[in-house]
Amino acid sequence: MLGVARDPARLESAARELDPERRRLSVLAADLEQREAPERIARAVSERWGALDVLFNNAGVQIDGAANGLSDGTEAVLERSMAVNLWAPYRLSMALLPLLSKGQEPRIVNVSSGAGNFESLRTPKIASYRLSKWALNGLTMILAGELEGRVAVNAFDPGWVKTDLGGPNAPGQPTESARGALAIVTLPFAETGKFWKDGAQIAF
Ligand SMILES: NC(=O)c1ccc[n+]([C@@H]2O[C@H](COP(=O)([O-])OP(=O)(O)OC[C@H]3O[C@@H](n4cnc5c(N)ncnc54)[C@H](OP(=O)(O)O)[C@@H]3O)[C@@H](O)[C@H]2O)c1
Repeated sequence: MLGVARDPARLESAARELDPERRRLSVLAADLEQREAPERIARAVSERWGALDVLFNNAGVQIDGAANGLSDGTEAVLERSMAVNLWAPYRLSMALLPLLSKGQEPRIVNVSSGAGNFESLRTPKIASYRLSKWALNGLTMILAGELEGRVAVNAFDPGWVKTDLGGPNAPGQPTESARGALAIVTLPFAETGKFWKDGAQIAF
């Protein structure tokens, strides 16, 4: 497994905890907003494993802050939200497709959000986040159709949990999301183009 994030110190400390002897886990510090990051990641996977079974597009930002709408001067917020939440998963998927094609029952999991389902677009607040996750759901559906039979592509809602992004008031714990994440990477390969939460299908 290759873990990617920007902060090398936090990556190292996560790796020490998860795999102290580094038998299965490598880490790579990369900023997914940078255009060259996906190619660097693909090179690292290729050099260590030569193939990829699962691309788990987890990195995401929710940066709407106090400016919650698209109509109140938040273009930079929308741009960054799209860069990390949509363009990065798209570019990673494209860069890693050749390695996924060599993997076993390869799959892409896009970590989306309940905030990005179709109905929630009617809810004000965190507009850039909602729009970027809705677009990610669209990317999931389109790639699932294009890659059917070759790579399974699904979206995953981890639920509202206590992380830096979820905040301290979230009702759930990250371990609960991890169970849902495990369920989605062990789905039958034929399941593709769907949205999942806690091991069950939900509406886009
Ligand atoms: N927590 C929730 O309640 C909740 C609910 C629904 C959906 N989600 C989704 O779940 C995913 C994980 O969220 P989280 O709650 O764990 O958020 P988090 O605590 O803020 O963690 C985000 C992760 O993404 C990495 N990251 C952010 N920007 C990056 C970039 N430009 N390049 C590389 N890595 C980057 C961060 O590492 P560095 O800072 O080191 O880069 C960190 O590991 C996100 O896609 C989020 O939208 C979360």
